[in-house]
Amino acid sequence: MICNHPARTPPGCISDSVMTSIGNGVLSRSGLLLKVAARSGINFFTITMKTDFDRLLDRRNTCSLKWDYCERILGEPDVIPMWVADMDFPAPPPVVEALRARAAHPAYGYPLAPDSFWQSIISWLKTRHGWEVDRGWLTLGPGVVPSLSFCVRALTQPGDGVVVQTPVYFPFFSAVEKNGRRLIRNSLRFEGGRWAMDFDDLARKLDQGAQLLILCSPHNPVGRVWTREELTEVGRLCRERDVLIVSDEIHADIVFKPHRHVPFARLSPDLAGRTITCWAPSKAFNLPGLNTSFVVAANRKLLDLYRLESQRAGFEMGNVFGLTALEAAYTHGAEWLDEAIAYMAANADFAAEFVRTRLPVLDFIRPEGTYLGLLDCRRLGLDDKALEEFFLRRARVYFNDGPKFGEEAAGFVRINIACPRSRLAEALERIARALESPGPPDSK
Ligand SMILES: Cc1ncc(COP(=O)(O)O)c(C=O)c1O
Repeated sequence: MICNHPARTPPGCISDSVMTSIGNGVLSRSGLLLKVAARSGINFFTITMKTDFDRLLDRRNTCSLKWDYCERILGEPDVIPMWVADMDFPAPPPVVEALRARAAHPAYGYPLAPDSFWQSIISWLKTRHGWEVDRGWLTLGPGVVPSLSFCVRALTQPGDGVVVQTPVYFPFFSAVEKNGRRLIRNSLRFEGGRWAMDFDDLARKLDQGAQLLILCSPHNPVGRVWTREELTEVGRLCRERDVLIVSDEIHADIVFKPHRHVPFARLSPDLAGRTITCWAPSKAFNLPGLNTSFVVAANRKLLDLYRLESQRAGFEMGNVFGLTALEAAYTHGAEWLDEAIAYMAANADFAAEFVRTRLPVLDFIRPEGTYLGLLDCRRLGLDDKALEEFFLRRARVYFNDGPKFGEEAAGFVRINIACPRSRLAEALERIARALESPGPPDSK
């Protein structure tokens, strides 16, 4: 039975995309998908799409950190990598075609971004996020992580306090501490299965001599898409204390309905004047290996300070492939991205249902945005080292452990769901088998 309707299909029903997978010779993998779903008793469904997100891409030995790390660095082969934030989907076909066309021209000299490059960013921000930005507010970055460091150096002095909201993407810590600034942690609170900001604590922390707040919006790893009200309150607290904001919005393009991303600098002209926003197409279109990002600052003074730091580090031009991919993604990638978001939302539903029915000792914190979700493993009663050992050596799946993002996430691990559903199902099935197998979870 083949279902062509883009809606939930009954169990046992296979979609066009699964048929395509069979046509491409990966029947056993697709068979696994259906088998795992049937065994888990979950009403598995797929959605008919132009892109075959079910296709299993072999990424081993492609210089992939995600895929080669466990075997080459940890010495553990046959582990399903569900950690670092890149996708197991091929980049959108128009991006691949644009890169092929550029690579076919055999001169790889220094690039000069054309007007169409900047225009593609301006149109993307306007159509996807209702944010009107001027060309003069934009400059290129070599990736959001280096840009965070440039921002810290541009907007603060050594010894100044910088607030981050923990648990958070851990390079935020090094952007502050490795630049000789003082890290101030404002803990997020986990209440009723959802992470939230603690505004009283934020006010107290901003009062500890903070010059800057680094916001993560949407937030990695807690998966929150901050609401307009939450962001407005952050803005109010910062404005009252004359604190500047760096807003890392790299995950802004992956948001699940009914949530909506609000660019922080769009809240008001006043907040736009005290914010540098860091953004990139790399998460949404799976391009992080191309090291290309951009920053937006309406305030010329802040942008000039940022540019100076970028120049001090010797970065000005970017690379031809990053520029080519960004423009192709923003110009031709919207339809692909909409499908990718729908597929990942269905993955999140699948994971939530699997964990609820087959792994009730765990809780899956369904992300509102980002393709990263937290698994609450606290009821296993393992310390974090034992938890990592259990997942890596017994279940043979690899996650990021929670405490790396902050002590608030002790007992949690971060799972990346941007992969074909059969792989997600197999990873969860491995955990179920490991938990069912005899012996305490901390023994091999
Ligand atoms: C919040 C956040 N910022 C930045 C990055 C990485 O940015 P880049 O690869 O552009 O340096 C990530 C990657 O996961 C992230 O989650």
